[in-house]
Amino acid sequence: MSTHYPTKRSVLVPMLLYIQDEVGSLTDEAIHEIAQRTELTDLEVRNVVSYYSMLRTRPIGKYNLQVCTNVSCLLRGGEEIFQHCKEKLGVGNKQSTADGLFYLEEVECIGACSWAPAMQLNYDFHENLTPEKVDELIEGIRKKVQQ
Ligand code: FES
Repeated sequence: MSTHYPTKRSVLVPMLLYIQDEVGSLTDEAIHEIAQRTELTDLEVRNVVSYYSMLRTRPIGKYNLQVCTNVSCLLRGGEEIFQHCKEKLGVGNKQSTADGLFYLEEVECIGACSWAPAMQLNYDFHENLTPEKVDELIEGIRKKVQQ
């Protein structure tokens, strides 16, 4: 660990993301273990977890749809895309579908303004969205999971 990062604290966020992906959320046990390994207190780790919106202490859907409705996206239909996602998934903002497959979240700019409207689906960006493209993405995931 110390060969790639200048200090143990530097590895904290990558480590939190990795554990979250593996376990599904940052449990008390995971936070304690990470604190031990980075020589921080549990409270210092919790403070970082609470600062970053992409870090979570409770499980959410396996596929996290983060739909941008900030200015560039708003001007190019981002709000309609977000409403479409809500209807398609049958959930509101910051809610998971009953099967635990999807979690929907309205977010601020994700840095894809030139290709608005945009959303992030886990670590992948999807741009120039239309309701049809959203349907394809969601249906594609549902089909993949059923196989
Ligand atoms: S405003 Fe939506 S990506 Fe920047």
